[in-house]
Amino acid sequence: MLDVTATRSLHSQRFGQSPAVFTAPGRVNIIGEHTDYADGFVMPAAIDFATLAAISPRDDGAVVIRSVNFDEEVTYPVSGLPAKGSHQWRDYPLGILSVLREEGIQIPPFSLTLNGDVPIGAGLSSSASIEVASMVAVLSLTPAEIPMTRVAQLCQRAENHFVGASTGIMDQFIACCGEKDHALLLDCRSLEYRLAPIPPDISLVIANSMVKHSHAGGEYNTRRAEVEEGTALLHSHRPEIKLLRDATPDDLARWGQEMRPEVLKRCRHIITENIRTVAAADALEAGDLKTLGRLMYEAHASYRDDFEASCPEVDILVDLAKKEPGCIGARLTGGGFGGCTINLVENTAASAFSEHLRAGYLDATGIAADIYLCHASAGAHQISTSKGEILFAK
Ligand code: GLA
Repeated sequence: MLDVTATRSLHSQRFGQSPAVFTAPGRVNIIGEHTDYADGFVMPAAIDFATLAAISPRDDGAVVIRSVNFDEEVTYPVSGLPAKGSHQWRDYPLGILSVLREEGIQIPPFSLTLNGDVPIGAGLSSSASIEVASMVAVLSLTPAEIPMTRVAQLCQRAENHFVGASTGIMDQFIACCGEKDHALLLDCRSLEYRLAPIPPDISLVIANSMVKHSHAGGEYNTRRAEVEEGTALLHSHRPEIKLLRDATPDDLARWGQEMRPEVLKRCRHIITENIRTVAAADALEAGDLKTLGRLMYEAHASYRDDFEASCPEVDILVDLAKKEPGCIGARLTGGGFGGCTINLVENTAASAFSEHLRAGYLDATGIAADIYLCHASAGAHQISTSKGEILFAK
């Protein structure tokens, strides 16, 4: 857990001002991968890894942003903020400033200290947590009142346009709207959502394969382009298909053969994943964990074989998990090409499960996996005032 008091002290020692502190969580996606930008369904949960953003106003016309994790600080005049990213950590807070300016919000001069414990490059959305924490912190110094669903959309725009990763809305949305002890089923078209309680006797065990992934450029954008190619073909036959959310397995059976083979597979993953995700939310709400687990394993197979976004190390983690007593379901979570698996495990089995998984993975790959026992947590909120009062923890 991040230390709010320590982050406050770091900020006041450096800037001589007592900060207000905001937090935004990372996330784990239980099911629904690469469906968000197809206007489909996702079911993530916010986790108890987060970014803290400590902020105080300045009176010298400067914006100073300090990253504790990278041990770096950058300074810009408010009138000379960059308009483009530079492929560094600073793109995330600078990106949200650029978007706020586009929205007509005047950026006040401020000092911002960012301190996070979301593992970077692990598929747990450290980037969205930095964006959302920074945005709510900066907004607190302005008169603007923006609903959290809109904050999510603006942070997504920063990631798409400033950082240069063509990601969907999932990560920013759950970082804004997650709730303690709940998963969130999001309709990425309407942005309507429902919360499903995670049974108290179930643990969220996240296993980090330690294979790093990155979204800016790379495979994520390639997959997205393949999906768009398939969507265009289906649209040419049935114009109501604007995005893959609108397509059915029957559409694919009729016209899929006209696609390049890999494009057909990418589309099949997304179309079937949408169906699985809605069914998984129903199963969770009905307390039918057996069905939920089966859908997670099926989702992993589809992500691996059709979307081809897994890697051998992650597949080993899922195969090992499947054999463990008390494991309800396991799959690769997040953008893919490395990162973490999400395992739903009965509480009573969670500690033996984690030990066995670590040992089995080390034996098979020579890599020591990090295993995190997480809890579904709240979305972004303020945790301390500038006077140092700790606000009621969500
Ligand atoms: C990343 C993106 C999300 C989503 C997932 C895949 O986390 O940021 O928008 O597309 O990958 O489900």
